[in-house]
Amino acid sequence: MNFKITLLPGDGIGPEVIAEAVRALETIARKYDHTFDFQERLMGGCSIDKYGSSLTDETLADCQSSDAVLLGAVGGPKWDDPNAKDRPERGLLALRKGLGVFANLRPVKVHPALVDASPLKPERLGGVDILVVRELTGGLYFGQPKMREMKDGCERAVDTLEYFDYEIRRVMELAFDLARGRRKKVTSVDKANVLESSRLWRQTASSIGTENPDIELEHTLVDTASMKLITAPASFDVVVTENMFGDILTDEASVLAGSMGMLPSAGLGEAGSRSDGEARMGLYEPIHGSAPDIAGRGVANPIGTILSAAMMLRHSFKLESEACSIESAVEQTVTGGARTADLGGKLTTRQMTDEIIKRIEES
Ligand code: IPM
Ligand code: MG
Repeated sequence: MNFKITLLPGDGIGPEVIAEAVRALETIARKYDHTFDFQERLMGGCSIDKYGSSLTDETLADCQSSDAVLLGAVGGPKWDDPNAKDRPERGLLALRKGLGVFANLRPVKVHPALVDASPLKPERLGGVDILVVRELTGGLYFGQPKMREMKDGCERAVDTLEYFDYEIRRVMELAFDLARGRRKKVTSVDKANVLESSRLWRQTASSIGTENPDIELEHTLVDTASMKLITAPASFDVVVTENMFGDILTDEASVLAGSMGMLPSAGLGEAGSRSDGEARMGLYEPIHGSAPDIAGRGVANPIGTILSAAMMLRHSFKLESEACSIESAVEQTVTGGARTADLGGKLTTRQMTDEIIKRIEES
């Protein structure tokens, strides 16, 4: 089959990890007889430098008209000026919104061979297999008003945590569907003891729970959830939560996996949002950032991006065996002892990918 993929390498280590994910995808294309047409565009800080905008209309349109988008990372000290008109992160948020990818799937698994890479006690890590479903196009990141002003001689800043019931409903329904293919448990995370938006979140979760009696639903306050992620991580199956809570909890959860460099994500839109009537729009990105401290040295861990490419094969292209081929190659590579610096090893970004590609070819 033939698929058009827009690549947005972005800033920092983004181009380094995207180049390796492309090599893994090309291996899959050869082995399974597919054609991937890659088109590369600028987004983030590099786009500000070239076009004066972190995301141009043309780039967004190119993403919208492709079968899926694979993104590296954006941001860096060069564009960190708090007074700047545009920021790399603004482009990323505009892209997520523009593509309508309202749900961000962030799987967190602890690879047995990496238990020692985590600061947690090994006995806490057994059986950890969590899927965080982060709401991605609403909540505190997008609510209006969002502003600064002078009021009564003081400087005032406002962000708004806003949700419509339909925004909660669609991400919640997806979380329940995903739980059905797993261990059939959904933990809905909110702050319903304080926030009105969380009370709507909880009410909506409960009514979807009633519609899906085969799935166990538990409500957990976000502060408690952050504690349980460390004290009892194996107790979670699917976790569904507000945009910013999800951002924070997934960085925390990445500690379980030994390194943030290991974790992929898939941003998904409405079912049937694509012209072929069935597939969802998909934006795939590792959860890590642009890591300016190691950028340009070829030592970043490519696994988060390569696993994001596997999620793209599964969710956007329905190529389940191809996705599994990448995932098991990564699994075997890590079991075989291959380690980049973040995991305490010496392999370069390229060498780690070579190990993975070799196993895809052998499978
Ligand atoms: C993430 C990142 C982004 C977010 C930043 C770069 C805007 O932290 O994808 O988790 O907060 O969503
Ligand atoms: Mg984050």
